Amino acid sequence: MADLVEVHFVPAAQTAWVRAGVTIVAAGEAAGVDIVTGCTQGMCGTDPVRIRSGGVDLSPPEPHEIGTLERMGLGVGHRLACSARVLRGRIEIETGTF
Ligand code: FES
Repeated sequence: MADLVEVHFVPAAQTAWVRAGVTIVAAGEAAGVDIVTGCTQGMCGTDPVRIRSGGVDLSPPEPHEIGTLERMGLGVGHRLACSARVLRGRIEIETGTF
C-alpha cells in the first residue's frame, strides 16, 4: 500500500487508492467519478477541479496548464484533471462547475 495514493472526491463522496503518477481523471475513473475531458492536454479547460487538500502532493503544473487556468480566471487551488498527477498521501478533490 506504500505506493498507493488516497484520492477522495467530493461531492460524490467516493475514494480510490491509485498508483502514484496517475492523473486526477484516472483516479476519478477508479473511484467511479466521471470527469468530462476534451483535449486531455491541458489546453481546452474542460476539466477544472478544486483541490481541497493535498495540493502539495500533486505534480507541479506545467506552463501550459497554468496558462489555461489563468485564461479561465481560476486561481490558486484549481488544477486541470487531465494534467495534474497524484504523487503521494491523501488528496481531496472537488468536482463541479468552476
Ligand atoms: S481535457 Fe482539455 S484541459 Fe484537460
